[in-house]
Amino acid sequence: MDSKQVQLDTLSKLMLDCSKCSLRSDCIQVVPGEGPAKAEIMFIGEAPGRKEDELGRPFVGAAGKFLNEMLGSINLKREDIYIANICKCRPPENRDPLPEEIKTCWPWLLEQIKIIQPKLIVTLGRHSMEIFFSGYKISQLHGTLVVKTIPEIGQYNFYTLYHPAAALYNGSMRETLFQDFQKIPIILRKIKSE
Ligand code: URA
Repeated sequence: MDSKQVQLDTLSKLMLDCSKCSLRSDCIQVVPGEGPAKAEIMFIGEAPGRKEDELGRPFVGAAGKFLNEMLGSINLKREDIYIANICKCRPPENRDPLPEEIKTCWPWLLEQIKIIQPKLIVTLGRHSMEIFFSGYKISQLHGTLVVKTIPEIGQYNFYTLYHPAAALYNGSMRETLFQDFQKIPIILRKIKSE
């Protein structure tokens, strides 16, 4: 196994033992994330839901099925990407994660990014966008490639999408998400050619 994969697996194991915030005591298990360490694209969602908490895997419920469909539309499979959440533990009743919970979990996400060094980071939904672009609206940023330096990890390419769970039952948002998704291969090719 290559060293990036070993590092990522070790990190995931450490996350399983995390109880730095109170979310851990209310959920079944930690959901670190999944995918190959060599992934070029890293997707970042919000937090595990009920199904994810049950199975210990990200995006395995209705939103995950929809995400898989979108990935398929651009000839990508789940095994091609890395996928994680801002918070690794399910908030009770699927409420939004609190600012202090996001802050406590943030170092785990930074470590994941540092190891994977994805060519493109795709944020899913408002919360995931806001941790990198505070003060912006998702309606302004979605579907646009933005290059930004994050002090702890350096410069990365970011692409914001609406959250698949929000778009699932909203016809126009669904269409926008689908169109934004179609741009991913073009953006990735552009990044790789630079
Ligand atoms: N929604 C998220 O943001 N993450 C998951 O893992 C599942 C649903």
